[in-house]
Amino acid sequence: MIHIPKAEYTRRRKALMAQMEPNSIAILPAAAVAIRNRDVEHVYRQDSDFQYLSGFPEPEAVIVLMPGRQHGEYVLFCRERNAERELWDGLRAGTEGAIREFGADDAFPITDIDDILPGLIEGRDRVYSAMGSNAEFDRHLMEWINVIRSKAHLGAQPPNEFVALDHLLHDMRLYKSAAEVKVMREAARISCAAHVRAMQASRAGLYEFSLEAELDYEFRKGGAKMPAYGSIVASGRNSCILHYQQNDAVLKDGDLVLIDAGCEIDCYASDITRTWPVSGKFSAEQKAIYEIVLASQEAAFAEIAPNKHWNQAHEATVQVITAGLVKLGLLQGDVDELIASEAYKAFYMHRAGHWLGMDVHDVGEYKVGGEWRVLEVGMALTVEPGIYISPDNQTVAKKWRGIGVRIEDDVVVTKQGCEILTGGVPKAVAEIEALMASAR
Ligand code: GLY
Ligand code: MN
Ligand code: MN
Repeated sequence: MIHIPKAEYTRRRKALMAQMEPNSIAILPAAAVAIRNRDVEHVYRQDSDFQYLSGFPEPEAVIVLMPGRQHGEYVLFCRERNAERELWDGLRAGTEGAIREFGADDAFPITDIDDILPGLIEGRDRVYSAMGSNAEFDRHLMEWINVIRSKAHLGAQPPNEFVALDHLLHDMRLYKSAAEVKVMREAARISCAAHVRAMQASRAGLYEFSLEAELDYEFRKGGAKMPAYGSIVASGRNSCILHYQQNDAVLKDGDLVLIDAGCEIDCYASDITRTWPVSGKFSAEQKAIYEIVLASQEAAFAEIAPNKHWNQAHEATVQVITAGLVKLGLLQGDVDELIASEAYKAFYMHRAGHWLGMDVHDVGEYKVGGEWRVLEVGMALTVEPGIYISPDNQTVAKKWRGIGVRIEDDVVVTKQGCEILTGGVPKAVAEIEALMASAR
């Protein structure tokens, strides 16, 4: 299995600590277990920031980083080994495993955190945490601070500054290392295989969930624990619902099906959309729309390179899509004016992409100082233009209504331009039709 090597977690912690102010402390909690219903739990997914700094896969844990601390800069609070619980729920690293396997300088039972953590915070000037994203943890943090405050008359020094960790950490996460790109390539490879399998299985009379099952099969077979987000399998007019998740309609001859799905490997997402005809052959109208979306995506790739800014790829898609819609008579008027008035938004209402990484809509600022961010090597993003013609759009001829097309690929910025991670699934009309014909 391809995964992030242990040494990389050490490197990340060091890089974060090097950016923290002197005499400061960072505190991050693991994700809580989420209850699905009564005593059934959702599949556990570690918090991305926590995972990024530790690789530690368990709940009920807290990372503490204290740059420059002589007795160890990295302390992990975690669950203790427990034969009874491990018999029921699976193995735990325990405090020894936290040190031996996960590189902690020191580790304590999570049940002792209230006794120990105030002592670690005491005397530090500044506390970094993900303020505002976990109300319960924020409350705990203030309780620990108040323990120190209550001892001020004994000379205890509570910290004076509370700083959001996100700014430092999320900027680090925006730049993918070679090891991260490797994991993202693997997630992309498996997701490509899943889309190919779903294309091959596509038949009228099946259900949208039948194709979702083909995706899930490839995801799990490839070693992915779960999809990176709820898979969208949207046929016919459902393809015009951007975040459609019902996935229970019958696939009909003559309709398109839009699948937006990707798996997650070692907490790194892939995010692919392909749109194809249920029965393997595009109609003239479907093909006309499809070719515009595809051309707009090609135009966007050409705008992804170091020193281009974030919005250039989006602007390229808007240009090609608006011009294409005018050519087909779906929009009337001057292309530049239709762009200025945002008339294209009736058909293309979302942006051309987002950062991609541990979260499918990954962290990182899109603007810096009010200006669109300039792309740099190692940034990963999606390129996902689309055209959606509402079934209720009375301004266009009936033959166009209900057609929804999106094409989405994942890229990483390289020195020369960008590497497309998700090229392993066809997207030219002729390629899709040939693949589907050979599967019949
Ligand atoms: N799958 C969500 C998105 O494409 O942004
Ligand atoms: Mn997507
Ligand atoms: Mn996306």
